Amino acid sequence: MTAERTQVAIIGAGPAGLTLAHVLHAHGIESVIIERRDRAYVERRLRAGVLEQGTVDLLRTLGLGARMDREGLVHHGINLQFGGERHRIALSELTGGRVITIYGQHEVVKDLIAARLAHGGQIAFGADDVSLHNITSDRPRVQFRHDGRLRELHCDVIAGCDGSHGVSRDAMPPGERQIFERAYPFSWLGILAAVPPSLGEVVYAHHEHGFALHSMRGPQITRLYVQCSPDDTLDSWPDERVWLELEARLSTTDGWTVQRGPVLEKSITTLRSVVMEPMQHGQLFLAGDAAHVVPPTGAKGMNLAVADARVLGEALACWYRRGDRNGLDDYSATCLRRVWRAEHFSWWMTSMLHRFPGHDAFQERLQLSQLRYVCRSTAAATSLAENYVGLEHV
Ligand code: FAD
Ligand code: DHB
Repeated sequence: MTAERTQVAIIGAGPAGLTLAHVLHAHGIESVIIERRDRAYVERRLRAGVLEQGTVDLLRTLGLGARMDREGLVHHGINLQFGGERHRIALSELTGGRVITIYGQHEVVKDLIAARLAHGGQIAFGADDVSLHNITSDRPRVQFRHDGRLRELHCDVIAGCDGSHGVSRDAMPPGERQIFERAYPFSWLGILAAVPPSLGEVVYAHHEHGFALHSMRGPQITRLYVQCSPDDTLDSWPDERVWLELEARLSTTDGWTVQRGPVLEKSITTLRSVVMEPMQHGQLFLAGDAAHVVPPTGAKGMNLAVADARVLGEALACWYRRGDRNGLDDYSATCLRRVWRAEHFSWWMTSMLHRFPGHDAFQERLQLSQLRYVCRSTAAATSLAENYVGLEHV
């Protein structure tokens, strides 16, 4: 066994873990990231695509925004579609000029990994059997198998950034944590297609066949999703069926529809809401999906992960610099305010736009009434817009 030492051991090289390593580096604090997958896998994993203004601002401040600024698409609005008609929510006008940036999560991850390695940072890719020890002492440690040897990393703090299927959340003693959860009775089937976006903005569509979403990854790449059954497999969704459903759900009465193209990737994502309280125990701090999951309607998951990492990084900086533990002690409460706001927003968007089992005329009229209200009332549209671009103060 090789024994090593660092200040902060970070488990997981997703948006939360990588952002944290960069915030710590900016304050002169050392960290080591331990990642289960190999680098190529992590850099190819297709997930979210919408960056809030606050996420973009943080990446720029950390000097990580150059490619995002070149290749990301700045959007000033999104669209809600129902009854075959499209309604634009003017995000920037309603929020004093704030915008969203379309830039794939895997591109963010690539940029953060490259910069971390360029700074001489350590990322142990392909780590197995990761386990956490002594989390309630001031000498916690992480053990893992890497490159055929057993390594033991001694540290001051462990940051559990290993997503919703990681080991960190299970290291929280069951008696000390509470889990709040909702499962949704549907999934999303997502495709990436080699075709220019059919519209320059994101479209969320409510339709009698179920929800559909039009988004993009660049001028030549479209990202599309359809609501499907939670029991569906990729076999039940050949390309032809995917396109027919996208056309049915996204077309408008004025003749607009989605353009077809070669399907580059296809996957199914389940929808869940999960929050673990508190997000810390002893010297273990959870960040991102390790502590909370939102359904993707509203595009909050990655942004929450980055927001947690910033709060944790700044709190650790105060502790190392001045011995001030207040930020660390308040970490959970500070993050949970933003988390619950995003949980509500994502649940609300999901409820307004999807077709639920037992969907009847009453449910339909409630959804349509809410959609009309959001599109016609400036107050309601502003509420959606400020949540969508990300609230500065929660
Ligand atoms: P992750 O990105 O999950 O990173 C965790 C990292 O930890 C991973 O690299 C993982 O390999 C590693 N890890 C796991 N276990 C271990 C272990 N035992 N030891 C070491 N390392 C470990 N959000 C949206 O807003 N819009 C979307 O369209 C959207 N689509 C999604 C599609 C899918 C399939 C999934 C799973 C999520 C999606 N999300 C979406 C959510 C968003 O991607 C997440 O909220 C975001 O990835 C959270 O970042 P994170 O760093 O907390 O976790
Ligand atoms: C995308 C994903 C989302 O969950 C969303 O709400 C909007 C856009 C995307 O992948 O581009």
